[in-house]
Amino acid sequence: MAFEITGTGMAAPSGRVTNDDLAAKIDTSDEWIRSHTGIEARHVADDTTAASDLALEAAVNALSMAAEARKESPEETGRSLDLIVLATATADYFGCPSTACLVQEKLGASRAAAMDVAAGCTGFIYGLETAAGLLGVGSERRLALVIGSEVLTKFTNWDDRSTCVLFGDGAGAVVMEKTDPQRPGKRGLIRSVLGADGSGAEHLLFRRGGSRNPYKEGETVDKPIHLEMNGQAVYNFAVKAVTDTIGKLLALEGLSLDDVALIIPHQANARIVQAAAKRLGVQEDKFFLNIQEYANTSSASIPIALDELNRRGALKQGDLIMTIGFGGGLTYGGNLIVW
Ligand code: UT7
Repeated sequence: MAFEITGTGMAAPSGRVTNDDLAAKIDTSDEWIRSHTGIEARHVADDTTAASDLALEAAVNALSMAAEARKESPEETGRSLDLIVLATATADYFGCPSTACLVQEKLGASRAAAMDVAAGCTGFIYGLETAAGLLGVGSERRLALVIGSEVLTKFTNWDDRSTCVLFGDGAGAVVMEKTDPQRPGKRGLIRSVLGADGSGAEHLLFRRGGSRNPYKEGETVDKPIHLEMNGQAVYNFAVKAVTDTIGKLLALEGLSLDDVALIIPHQANARIVQAAAKRLGVQEDKFFLNIQEYANTSSASIPIALDELNRRGALKQGDLIMTIGFGGGLTYGGNLIVW
């Protein structure tokens, strides 16, 4: 049994905000943002766009690609879905319904089970492994859609320059099919490492609005619910999480970094990747970066990168690729995929 990725897709809102645009409004500069993060621009959703809208667009793009191989229409592939797993920290609605259910309805995927995954920026990595598990041994399910979708700019404190310059909106999706391998050797998703360290929960959180700190009747609120971050603590966690997770994935499969064609990291900060590459003793170009265009789109950053690479023809059949992520929770993880 193999869990192959047969389609990829992405969506980014048309609104594009450069560092200079931000510097015209808040106390920052293009030079600071570029040199501290590698970000040059971010895409920002308009008032009418929610996570499910971006998710749907990315999903339709991924389904269209998968449909070609299945020799059917994207609508038919959508209706054949057995499962939708959607990673997000910025759901359309608080708690219920899941954003996955909204996408399920819009796709007409009436036979699909649908659920959200809350694992911060590691959400897509958790989502892939969750989908493979639910398609796994003994299950009649064969076809899954895994999505990461975020509209972080709606939950940003624009008075906090240490966070507001970092985030962008977008979505990425993949179609995963359970296949019975005809060709020898491993293919598709072959291994994941998932982990968490809840002792770091305070370092990246939406402090207000949940059952710990609900908004009270009559309370005057001067800011929308927004993400707070202890940047230094998350940075240190991230560098260690990236290097340790890469080491674990390689050790579990008896591989070395030379066997890996490309590492696709969560796009949070180019400096995190540079520090990890230095620790691992590999060239930085072993890691793919597109943070300059999209900034940090949390759970969407890895599937957006996958789709960009796939459509560019940069992923060859048989290539061993690795995703690596970290984020709110704190969580971390990685997937090994034979393309
Ligand atoms: O995906 C979720 C996971 N999130 C992350 O992975 C983020 C991890 N953390 C980071 O990437 C980095 O810690 C940041 C990019 C958030 C911050 O970079 P830093 O090099 O750690 O900056 P800092 O917080 O130490 O701040 C250095 C200086 C401060 O000024 P002083 O006190 O030295 O005078 C800040 O006030 O930079 C100042 N600063 C800014 N200046 C201009 C902070 N933000 C800005 C800004 N523009 N946007």
